[in-house]
Amino acid sequence: MLNLVIFGAPGSGKGTQSAKLIDQFGLYHISTGEVLRDHIARGTELGKTAETYISKGQLIPDDLIIDLLDQVLDAEAKEAKGVVFDGFPRTIPQAEALEDLLEKRGSKLHAVIGLEVPEEELVERMINRGRQTGRADDNIDTIKNRLEVYRNQTHPLREYYTTRGSYIPVNGTGTVEEIFDKIATGVENATGERRRTKK
Ligand code: AP5
Ligand code: MG
Repeated sequence: MLNLVIFGAPGSGKGTQSAKLIDQFGLYHISTGEVLRDHIARGTELGKTAETYISKGQLIPDDLIIDLLDQVLDAEAKEAKGVVFDGFPRTIPQAEALEDLLEKRGSKLHAVIGLEVPEEELVERMINRGRQTGRADDNIDTIKNRLEVYRNQTHPLREYYTTRGSYIPVNGTGTVEEIFDKIATGVENATGERRRTKK
């Protein structure tokens, strides 16, 4: 198996680069944000709870999101060659839970790719996306909260994974292709896996 975390602030390009990672390394993509937005769209109980947090730019409680990930891994990722975790973990307890969830399945986390993008560019990207797609949490007030939550609760994971030797920092500015090339090289060097096609 090849399990990767794509890590970074809101708007850093996690979703964009995940699409390329799953294609080039044959992996299954789990974005906890997308799973939650799907629950909101379907009006489930979890969706109703999640909306109250997402609309404020706050994190869903750890126990809820960890249970959800456990279910998604069983329901959708059992046959996968490996998983790209996008938007999870976001707290230290989530990082510890991920280790347990993978160990319970006889596997482990191989690398954490950290997309590093200056805050002004993050804000600009999210404001643009809000205009183009209408994503509900891409408004300036919620964006400010999401960035603050990132700084306080999620950014400490950079240190956590650096200490464990699994953090691969990647400059997340430039074209999508340039960034992916750096990510793929980092994954290849860290894991020995190879991308399907190299330009
Ligand atoms: P989530 O959906 O994970 O959102 P996020 O972390 O805020 O990140 P985004 O999806 O906004 O950005 P991204 O990094 O995927 O960037 P993208 O590729 O889209 O979470 C949403 C909410 O759900 C959270 O706030 C929380 O409430 C809840 N939640 C989710 N997971 C949770 C968890 N584990 N625990 C608790 N709560 C959780 O790119 C952004 C934009 O930039 C796009 O328009 C894209 O086209 C553009 N772009 C991408 N790359 C480039 C580039 N190189 N140059 C220029 N533009 C680019
Ligand atoms: Mg995303």
